[in-house]
Amino acid sequence: MSDQIADLKQQLKSLNSEYARIKEIPSEKRAAFGRDLNLKKQFIIDQISTAEQTALNSAVEALDISAPCAPNQPLPTFFTADRGSRHPLMTELDRVIEIYQLMGFDIVESLQLDSEYYMFDTLNFPKDHPARGDYDTFRTEDDFIPPAHTSTMQNRVLRANKHNLKNGRPIAVAVPGRVFRNEDVDTTHEHTFYQCEGVYVSEDCNLSQMLGILRSFFEHYYGQNLKIKTQPGYFPFTEPSLEFLIEKPQSLGGKPGDYMEMLGCGMIHPNVLKMADIDPDKYRGFAWGGGIDRLVMLKYNLSDVRDFESGKLRFLKEFK
Ligand code: DAH
Repeated sequence: MSDQIADLKQQLKSLNSEYARIKEIPSEKRAAFGRDLNLKKQFIIDQISTAEQTALNSAVEALDISAPCAPNQPLPTFFTADRGSRHPLMTELDRVIEIYQLMGFDIVESLQLDSEYYMFDTLNFPKDHPARGDYDTFRTEDDFIPPAHTSTMQNRVLRANKHNLKNGRPIAVAVPGRVFRNEDVDTTHEHTFYQCEGVYVSEDCNLSQMLGILRSFFEHYYGQNLKIKTQPGYFPFTEPSLEFLIEKPQSLGGKPGDYMEMLGCGMIHPNVLKMADIDPDKYRGFAWGGGIDRLVMLKYNLSDVRDFESGKLRFLKEFK
């Protein structure tokens, strides 16, 4: 115990004899006397606790958190960078984005939590229409929607870029994003996957331009010329609506005439343009949306879409 603390404790002790004197004090002064003594006592107690804390602090050896570690000691067992790798879907998504950027598209990522309004209302799904049921939509308890497609972004993209049209420029935006569907999972269906949407609006665009853009995209992505075809489809947000197919490249295990559906597309429905305050008598647009997982599966001849979300190292290491 330091001298200072011993001294303070002695002072505290001697206060006790002063408390004993309280009976001798005339009654009218007793209260003031007692108050003074209490204040003195508290003052000494505070000083003791400060001195004790200081003594304690100096007794513990300080830890120097800025000290460098000894360079030749074995490293702690962190995960070193060479044990991890980029997820193949992220690498491929970058390639997809790059191709659309080279074509002049702006890129906007889709939201992972959205609303009924953007999922259905802005996309010309009539209220209470069975088509709303086609999308196996998840809902949170608060009625938010983890989006079932990247088309949820169409209205936002149209509104945000409307000024282009007034300046004589088109709206050209690609929207990559993560989407979710409440469906039975098997080798070709997953509850969580990636899509990329394309939206294009100008005064005079047409379907053949859209097919040209899509062909060019797929030919760049697979690095070879491709045969394409379309077949009729149905989406409330396009009119006409098409499904877009490519012939599976032979280098990727396809046989001639072996077509694979890659995305849904069509001319943007006038009601969708109206919902974004774009005059459908003056402007028109086309749009498309397709799965990224499927695109990548064909490129690497993968057979089970579930591997992407599985976290299986054996699978992920193949892409290191
Ligand atoms: N959102 C559709 C789906 O996930 C795909 C789609 C079809 C997107 C037509 C579009 C479109 O933009 O115009 O099934």
